Amino acid sequence: MAVERTFGIIKPDAVASGFTGEILSIIERNGFTIVGMEKRTINTTEAESFYGVHKSKPFFGELVSYITSGPVIVLALERENAIQEWRNLMGATDPLKASVGTLRKMFGKHLSSNATHGSDAPETAKQECAFFFPHL
Ligand code: RTP
Ligand code: MG
Repeated sequence: MAVERTFGIIKPDAVASGFTGEILSIIERNGFTIVGMEKRTINTTEAESFYGVHKSKPFFGELVSYITSGPVIVLALERENAIQEWRNLMGATDPLKASVGTLRKMFGKHLSSNATHGSDAPETAKQECAFFFPHL
């Protein structure tokens, strides 16, 4: 299988809790190559565009205010089957439902503060990588 690229975020709660190093280490141990990485704060305009697909959802406002609440680590990650493998490593959206050994189980607090983001399909991976890493 060919090497694939996906996009990830270490979200504000995990960065603020000091889990950045541990999460990056787990990412590398799981066979991902970090091809892009930046610590930055996402502004409201960026967040509304990034989460545009969730615009009509009742939790949209919460989502935008949370993701803009503090510094995040944006990541472009490569490995075979990266999109699915990164979602497997993150675990279920709700940390309470995530399996043992997944990042959201280990580092997530609750549904909205769930430690990480990952693209869900080839098109979104491409879009999200281009949004945050236009030079890659
Ligand atoms: P993500 O996009 O962050 O990787 O997470 P996901 O695919 O597992 O979940 P998605 O359905 O795309 O939802 C995006 C983020 O919205 C928050 N959420 N809140 N209050 C709620 O009912 C609710 N549902 C989802 C989560 O933080 C989720 O990561
Ligand atoms: Mg999603």
